[in-house]
Amino acid sequence: MIDQIARAAALDSADPLAGYREQFLAPEDFDVVSYLDGNSLGRPLIATAALMERFIREQWAGRLIRGWTDSWMKWPLQLGDRLGSVALGAAADQVIIGDSTTVLIYKLARAAVDSAPGRNRVVLDTDNFPTDRYVLEGVAAEKGLELVWIETDPAAGIHPAQVAEVVDERTALVLFSHVAYRSGWLADVAEINRIAHAAGALTMWDLCHSAGSVPIRLDEWGVDLAVGCTYKYLNGGPGAPAFAYLRKGLQETLRQPIQGWMGHRASFEMGPGYEPAAGSRALLSGTPPVLAMVPLHANLDMLAAAGIEAVRAKSLLLTGYTLDLADEWLAPYGVEVLSPRDPARRGGHVTLRKPGFDKLLDPLWEAGVIPDYRRPDGLRIGPAPLSTSFGEVHRGLSTLRDLLDR
Ligand SMILES: Cc1ncc(COP(=O)(O)O)c(C=O)c1O
Repeated sequence: MIDQIARAAALDSADPLAGYREQFLAPEDFDVVSYLDGNSLGRPLIATAALMERFIREQWAGRLIRGWTDSWMKWPLQLGDRLGSVALGAAADQVIIGDSTTVLIYKLARAAVDSAPGRNRVVLDTDNFPTDRYVLEGVAAEKGLELVWIETDPAAGIHPAQVAEVVDERTALVLFSHVAYRSGWLADVAEINRIAHAAGALTMWDLCHSAGSVPIRLDEWGVDLAVGCTYKYLNGGPGAPAFAYLRKGLQETLRQPIQGWMGHRASFEMGPGYEPAAGSRALLSGTPPVLAMVPLHANLDMLAAAGIEAVRAKSLLLTGYTLDLADEWLAPYGVEVLSPRDPARRGGHVTLRKPGFDKLLDPLWEAGVIPDYRRPDGLRIGPAPLSTSFGEVHRGLSTLRDLLDR
């Protein structure tokens, strides 16, 4: 039998990103021995705490409204560009930060379907995140559109062949997740885009579970629209604002429906009618959540220094190690793996299933082990590469094994 603790130690000592753990507020200082939910809420950086304090004292208290013209007005686009270059493979002036993922899905989906009045269908999959499905249900009701549902395997995800079967000249938009929130399935974005585009449809991708974890090449893959949150692998903090991407070539024709003054050509002219700003600024609506954007400065610096390719390499080792422990320790207790084993199709987390897992949540939390739980019987293990060690995965899964044994 493999000595898994020695293996974790060897993996940790060979890990080129190991030093980044020290940039986070250490969970050991609190009561956490294994944090395995980076796919839900990333941990805070030490630099973020200092930056927030400094922002409040120097910029908010010190500059007051002058802060808007100093820099705050520029943040949604400046940080969007930085995120685009560090994590999304997007050239400048296509990404903005602001609103929540839910609101941005609405804004972009409406812009997309409004731009294709002769098309009355929107394609989505049954296992996409609830908010994506609910928002599209609302848009379909509002616009009299038909939703075309693709049944996806909950242990896998959307396949190009399934998309090819349903898209045609009636399809206005397809919306899928790059990494499926449940299984962790990594979709073939470029191929699905090619298929949808051949039918004349626009494509929108939810990047919540891939941004900051899996390399993304929005421009190269021909993505039209994308959204994602910054509170998971981008460590933006609870309720941190989301981002939206609108491909340059569509910015003249697609119009999002929430025409607020911050998306206006000249916000402070306070003019009589709405005139959209040029470029990605037209995606904004109201006052940007400046305070909630402060952490992103520190996180993007860290991700730029670490490099998304190195993050992905460690992520695959972490999820691979998780799968090995699940097979060796948990399968004998009837635990199933509901995630792709093929690294080319696996995102940054692994889902384990066993009826009764809900009863283990309290004891796991009491032992300082924090995975993610999804009804009815799934535990998601999401080890964020920059903040999680292999030893931490070992501690978490050995605690789970011991609880199952009891
Ligand atoms: C795939 C996906 N889409 C959307 C959301 C939620 O969006 P919001 O930030 O608007 O709550 C989540 C949240 O976990 C998510 O995982």
